Amino acid sequence: MHCTRKVTDELTWTGADDRKLSLFEGVYPVHDGMSYNSYLLSDEKTVLFDTADKAVTESFLENIRYTLSGRKLDYIIVHHAEPDHSASLAAVLREYPDAEIVCTAKCAEMLGQFTGMKLNVHTVAENDTLSSGKHVLRFITAPMVHWPEVMVTYDETDKVLFSADAFGTFGALNGALFADEVDFERDFLPEARRYYCNIVGKFGMQVQMLLKKASALDIKLICPLHGYVWRKNIELITEKYNLWSTYQPEEKAVVIAYASIYGGTEKAANITACMLRDRGVKTKVMDMSVHTSDELVAECFRASCLVFATPTYNGGIFIKMEEALRNIAAHGIKNRTCAFIQNGTWMPMSAKLMREILSSCKDMTFIDDPLTVKSVLTEEQFEETEAFVNEIASAV
Ligand code: FEO
Repeated sequence: MHCTRKVTDELTWTGADDRKLSLFEGVYPVHDGMSYNSYLLSDEKTVLFDTADKAVTESFLENIRYTLSGRKLDYIIVHHAEPDHSASLAAVLREYPDAEIVCTAKCAEMLGQFTGMKLNVHTVAENDTLSSGKHVLRFITAPMVHWPEVMVTYDETDKVLFSADAFGTFGALNGALFADEVDFERDFLPEARRYYCNIVGKFGMQVQMLLKKASALDIKLICPLHGYVWRKNIELITEKYNLWSTYQPEEKAVVIAYASIYGGTEKAANITACMLRDRGVKTKVMDMSVHTSDELVAECFRASCLVFATPTYNGGIFIKMEEALRNIAAHGIKNRTCAFIQNGTWMPMSAKLMREILSSCKDMTFIDDPLTVKSVLTEEQFEETEAFVNEIASAV
């Protein structure tokens, strides 16, 4: 049986949830599954906006059959060629071989690579339009949000923005479709942040270009390819995107990320957190042996100040911390204050190495003197630790 929801009288959500997925893109843990959104517009012509991941092809096809109710499928608009949205394309075309694909030239090239099929494609460019009868669909390019071929579509008739990966979130929909049907800020904002920072965090400039184009449109609905549809309080998510894409912290706060082997570094992280709280500074402490690096990337986008604490390990940085730092640098974080705690029973040197990794990031302020721990912090180091914490507190 079909499992669909109405977005408007003429627009139907035909996507599906996958709760069996453990790692999105093979790297990001998704504890609450993933949604693959697709939408079908029933106008004089029928228009399918994107397909879905191969994990949900069967349900997805059932939804399309039901929504079309025996009508032919005229157009398939492909906003993004990545297989989480295009892997079901071949299956759709087997049932609806006369459907015309509408996408950018770059996307057509990629779809050819992924499917190995000769496709019936109508390529479009910036501001081209397509009429489906009552609805006029305007295409707007959004390169690198998330891949170079990406475009979004604006339905001028109903003022709907089909936003591709933008404004998405990790997590299955679980029956709700609209962001106002859930407590988004409480339950989904952290996952929207983790999704944004890890998927497109590096491409802030390109996200800004899309936001600028979107700001010129009268948008009543945002239909992303993952997560909830926005019909109320749209500013909540667009304002977050503006902060994230300009690398402005959401909060004056300190994230203390540590890796620890026998607990000495962990204790130093906890002492730092307690001293900062004594000074009225908000803190979050993360054990990188428990948390994944994508969680830390998201926290680095949220908070204004970052403290990294790790033992020196094989003359380098302890493994989990090194992976996390390289991931942070790869996602292009900017404009943060960083401090370092290094541990070493005989030759502590990890602060210098951690700073070197983050030196590729722009507009960073580094607190020069690290806190050095030789196995464990001692009472004799109380004043030195206070001085380290005071410097962080005054930078927040
Ligand atoms: Fe959801 Fe970039 O694919």
